[in-house]
Amino acid sequence: MPGLVIVGAQWGDEGKGKVVDLIAEHADAVVRFQGGNNAGHTIVRDGEVFKFHLVPSGILYPGKICAIGNGVVVDPQVLTEELDALRRRGLDIGGLKVSANAHLIMPYHLLIDHAGEAKLGEQKIGTTRRGIGPCYADKAARLGIRVQDLLDEKILKQKISAAMEPKRLSLRPFAKDPMLDLHAMTEQYRTFGARLEPHIADTAPIAWRVLERNGLVIFEGAQGTMLDIDHGTYPFVTSSNPVAGAACVGAGVGPTDIDHVWGIAKAYATRVGAGPFPTELDGALGEEIRAAGGEFGTTTGRPRRTGWLDLVALRYAVRVNGLTGLVITKLDVLTGIDPICVATRYTAPDEASFEEFPYHQSVLHKARGEYDSLAGWQEDISGARSYDDLPESARAYLDYISDFLGIPIVMIGVGPARDEIIWTGAVELPRPAAA
Ligand code: GDP
Ligand code: IMO
Ligand code: MG
Repeated sequence: MPGLVIVGAQWGDEGKGKVVDLIAEHADAVVRFQGGNNAGHTIVRDGEVFKFHLVPSGILYPGKICAIGNGVVVDPQVLTEELDALRRRGLDIGGLKVSANAHLIMPYHLLIDHAGEAKLGEQKIGTTRRGIGPCYADKAARLGIRVQDLLDEKILKQKISAAMEPKRLSLRPFAKDPMLDLHAMTEQYRTFGARLEPHIADTAPIAWRVLERNGLVIFEGAQGTMLDIDHGTYPFVTSSNPVAGAACVGAGVGPTDIDHVWGIAKAYATRVGAGPFPTELDGALGEEIRAAGGEFGTTTGRPRRTGWLDLVALRYAVRVNGLTGLVITKLDVLTGIDPICVATRYTAPDEASFEEFPYHQSVLHKARGEYDSLAGWQEDISGARSYDDLPESARAYLDYISDFLGIPIVMIGVGPARDEIIWTGAVELPRPAAA
């Protein structure tokens, strides 16, 4: 002990990468537990920007054990490119481990993801088109190819052939695509295998060993609660479970190994891709927040939809994840906006009012936020390093959130850089000495 799970409490892009990077300084290991390179985690360190899709956000500390757990889906091309880019920047990636049991994204997963979205047309989910859904589908169908299969050419070829067989019909339009040639694909994936071999490991025991000697393991989530395939806004979700419970399955530890669960939420809300978003701001204010927050996708560059903080959805996220602490990021982005609204309930077109997050898809699609209005502030807060440095109305905003949700705020982001953070001290955990 202790195990700390970090999850997105909204629709992704809450600033998980920055938070994990900060805490990782004092952690013995960081383990990614789900998702794949649909994730884009940005870390700004000494003015340098790092964008990670697969590599855990602790990698900037030389030699830090950073594991890609069994629950992650790995595109080996993306992973090798990410590792090459880190090496070119002179970083030590010796601590990077990839679970032998993690599933591989194959070229046909990318094609099926593209084709599926094209077929849905107007109804499309707006996936990142990285092959995530089709890869998890193969995993569930027991047709998946795993990292360990890269190390045996004969097994690899047999498994690719077996996995492609049931897809013959859907892949027919791509029959001449050289990406789908069995021999070429096997060859290419064998090359990835050779490159990744030094990193391939049984990652669960790595976490066990750290926990047994009382070290700190961070379980790093990707995406966010509202994109969870079971608990999110299905079908406008990703194909994995970004909620905290999945940390156990995706890393190979038990619930009793988890001591803290921190949810990350922006001081407002964003969403990339299609699906319900009850507090969306379509007009000039939404545009203003997008510009101030730099709300463009890390992975696809798409403009993110923006809206007011949704406390109905956030309270649901507190419950579903069993959050013990909340991190509010990007508070600085709200500077100059007055008043600031927060949704405390939803209304549906028939005037029905919801205090709890509605489970029914047709209700959720039409639900709109009902707001409480709070005073804004004009002062630049990026230099604030303690709670007391914040203007009174910013403190009142945070207190309102914490009271509504009934959990402590542990950190507050006031800018993208490493040091632009306030540690409130509400929960004791290892923290940078300089903070
Ligand atoms: P993740 O996917 O949850 O890791 O989040 P992203 O990296 O996709 O998006 C968060 C963006 O906000 C990144 O560009 C971060 O550098 C930036 N960011 C994180 N925290 C703060 C903050 O407190 N203030 C501001 N202005 N930017 C932040
Ligand atoms: P991070 O880890 C925000 C969204 C996509 C789409 C839906 C399904 O950076 O927070 P997928 O490709 O997963 O099948 O797409 O999920 N999505 C994300 N949105 N942040 C992410 O990751 C996301 N990963 C997937 O936009 O709506
Ligand atoms: Mg992101």
